[in-house]
Amino acid sequence: MWFRAAYSSSTPQLALESGGIAIRAYKMNAHIKLRGRRDLAGQIYRQIRASIVDGRLAPGERLPSTRTLASELDVSRKTTLDVFERLIGEGYLRSRTGDGTFVSDEMTRLAPTPPRERIVQATGAVWETLPEALPASRKDMPARFDFVGGVTDKRLFPFDKWRKCVSHALRIQARGNGSYHDPSGDQELRLAISRYLASSRAVVSNWQDVIVTNGAQQAIELLARAVIRPGDVIAVEDPGYPPARSVFTAAGARVIDVPVDKDGLRVDALPSKARMVYVTPSHQFPLGMPMTLERRLALLEWAHRRGALVIEDDYDGEYRFEGRPMESLKSLDNAGVVAYVGTFSKTIFPELRIGYMIPPSSLAATLRKAKQVSDWHSSTLMQTALGKFMLDGYFAKHLRHMHREYARRRATLLEYLQGDLADVFTPLPSVAGIHLVAILADDTNEADIIARANQASVGLYGISRMFNTQPSRQGILFGYGGIGVDDIRSGLTQLGETLRATRR
Ligand SMILES: Cc1ncc(COP(=O)(O)O)c(C=O)c1O
Repeated sequence: MWFRAAYSSSTPQLALESGGIAIRAYKMNAHIKLRGRRDLAGQIYRQIRASIVDGRLAPGERLPSTRTLASELDVSRKTTLDVFERLIGEGYLRSRTGDGTFVSDEMTRLAPTPPRERIVQATGAVWETLPEALPASRKDMPARFDFVGGVTDKRLFPFDKWRKCVSHALRIQARGNGSYHDPSGDQELRLAISRYLASSRAVVSNWQDVIVTNGAQQAIELLARAVIRPGDVIAVEDPGYPPARSVFTAAGARVIDVPVDKDGLRVDALPSKARMVYVTPSHQFPLGMPMTLERRLALLEWAHRRGALVIEDDYDGEYRFEGRPMESLKSLDNAGVVAYVGTFSKTIFPELRIGYMIPPSSLAATLRKAKQVSDWHSSTLMQTALGKFMLDGYFAKHLRHMHREYARRRATLLEYLQGDLADVFTPLPSVAGIHLVAILADDTNEADIIARANQASVGLYGISRMFNTQPSRQGILFGYGGIGVDDIRSGLTQLGETLRATRR
């Protein structure tokens, strides 16, 4: 059963609909509908308040008496009295003794509701210039064989072990005192990260140096906040990682695109005024080559001379398939100019949203404050679970397993790209990570290959959008994190047949 009451401005008359019977006032300004018999006072309060806020009840307008309203709505007088008392207490209504209850005159200060929702102006036109995020797999063209980058294979993640760790974290959380935690992150997780980096990335740190963030993205954002003043020059790789570039643009920086070649970032092309340089030295994003030691040393020397900060984004360096791991920039940094950034997005999965950074000690206190200003700290539940997952050895085991698996996928992919498909694709040397780039033959282009691949239900993604300047090459980024060996074979076989059948 529901009731509808409407009252007019000039006379506190009510129109009531009940069980199909309707009595209407000659001028209706507001309706009160009651659904069910629960929280009647709350229902009436919210509807009268909403009518005042959106202007259906104007300042100075008289309301029906609590007695009339109670009787018409079939609620107790106490209910309507409570509602009015609350609205008067909050300043929406005022009562004049012996005269009645009116919408407060203060409400004239509320902006009138425009016909369409008003658009709040964002800070400057900068946001409009930002690209959308990286291409996710295409919902409009779902591909049976999808080589999208940036995803991991969840089918191979040990969810049984993870469940144990999350249960453990829940127990710890239930025992906690419900307060805020350290902005730098959970102590055990920081210890686990610090140990892991020492053994696998040759990055030596104390656990106190580690700051846990919501993904590498937040680490980059906090570094930008801590260092960039509007107008500062920031250097990024071109082609590069668009979400990082967006952080710097949004912070008001003048972002300069620096070309990369087979040895990585061209240090000789860095703008002399750059305050910060963002690089992906282990596995250049997107092209894949590691930065040579010579370039690394040149970059460190350059940053030291200029007093610039280098952000080393080591987003997927844990998977290395050939040769010895190259020294991280952080491990070569004696001058305190490198902020090392890492993530679990490629080793576990991106939805986890856990990353970390080890900033130079001169910036550590500022970054802890920046993290607190941003979101106080990352979720303790996930941090505790991940800390246990690492300290109990499950993470290392998972990495070993995935390393073997990704090595097979990469080898299969290369076998096709260098064999059956060699007339169209030339893979770039890439010894790490979970994607590789293949450059297209001169007589074709990305849009054409992507469209023809789509006919074979193969999802391919071009590298042009990773260039901020005119793309110097056309190529395809083959992600193999989310596609197994058998599907790589089937997909690339079909791709080869389709390309031959549609040869132009
Ligand atoms: C270059 C680069 N950095 C960082 C990340 C991961 O960022 P996050 O930890 O925010 O998921 C990615 C993911 O694709 C990447 O390509």
